[in-house]
Amino acid sequence: MRSRIVGTGSYLPAGVLTNFDLEKRMDTTDAWIRERTGIERRHIVAPGETTVDMAEHAARAALEAAGRSSAEVDLIVVGTCTPDLQFPNAGVMLQGRLGNLGCPALGVEAACSGFIYALSLADKFIRAGEAKLALAVGAESLSKITNYNDRGTAILFGDGAGAVLLAADEEPGILSTHLHADGSYLPLLRCSGGVSAGHAPGGDYITMAGSEVFKIAVNMLARAVDEALEANQVSRSDLDWLVPHQANIRIIQATARKLDLPLDRVIITVADHGNTSSASVPLALDIGVRDGRIKRGDLLLLEAFGGGLTWGSALVRY
Ligand code: COA
Repeated sequence: MRSRIVGTGSYLPAGVLTNFDLEKRMDTTDAWIRERTGIERRHIVAPGETTVDMAEHAARAALEAAGRSSAEVDLIVVGTCTPDLQFPNAGVMLQGRLGNLGCPALGVEAACSGFIYALSLADKFIRAGEAKLALAVGAESLSKITNYNDRGTAILFGDGAGAVLLAADEEPGILSTHLHADGSYLPLLRCSGGVSAGHAPGGDYITMAGSEVFKIAVNMLARAVDEALEANQVSRSDLDWLVPHQANIRIIQATARKLDLPLDRVIITVADHGNTSSASVPLALDIGVRDGRIKRGDLLLLEAFGGGLTWGSALVRY
């Protein structure tokens, strides 16, 4: 038994923070941000709006797109590094909202690779015969851990959610997933505090060595895409779409060059919502599906990297 994507959904909060808004708050310019990152605006949660609220919108949209009811879902996996509460995990909280009580529900923390990890876990449950209809979700309120006094990170991050509904099928949709992590990179990209290590004075915020992370990301993603293609005996020219993590347009361009893919075969959404961490790949996927670019039968390569460092890929026959 294999898994196929039968529905996608996404959600962006109404609040928008543009580069021009940031110009007023810190020493930066719209031109610098656009040139170095490709980002023009980010969506930010309203006061009281949470990660699970956004996950619910995205999950319901995926269910509606597939014409399936939440009562049929027998597994929920939510990738997030900004859960509402320390516990219950975001998957369980989403399950409580959807009402499919009793099924396993997980929260997965793998920073920006959180959705790829969630998708891989959901696919493995289905392959093992332990689930038939699974939600894999990525949702983040990164604005809650962004330091708006740090121009090196504040320009990058935004809030949002994306979801995929996977159904058991004899024909493979998810052809492979590959997951990786290297904890020795912890100092380069992390949140400065937490429950057990203790909260950082002044608040727990993302800290990052931007240019080092940039170089490592380009190299890791180049290896990750090779790994996915080789494992499936697929050549670069067979790919219809690259659906990359939306961290920085220059990282996306480097990966597309590595694949010899013209940019018009890459789903690029980074200008409109910045880096939404684990929400980024399912958001881009949903946008590409809903605007008609991604069609049934297309071969998609999904990839992400993030804090940890973590990274991974999924090769998908949509
Ligand atoms: N506005 C204006 N200038 C800025 C700035 C900003 N928002 N942020 C940094 N600068 C300055 C720096 O202070 C530095 O100035 P200096 O030369 O006088 O010291 C200069 O710009 C270059 O800084 P650098 O950090 O080398 O820039 P960069 O080209 O690497 O771009 C990032 C910075 C953060 C945009 C880029 O490194 C990046 O995107 N990294 C990857 C981040 C990422 O994807 N993280 C998430 C992983 S999931």
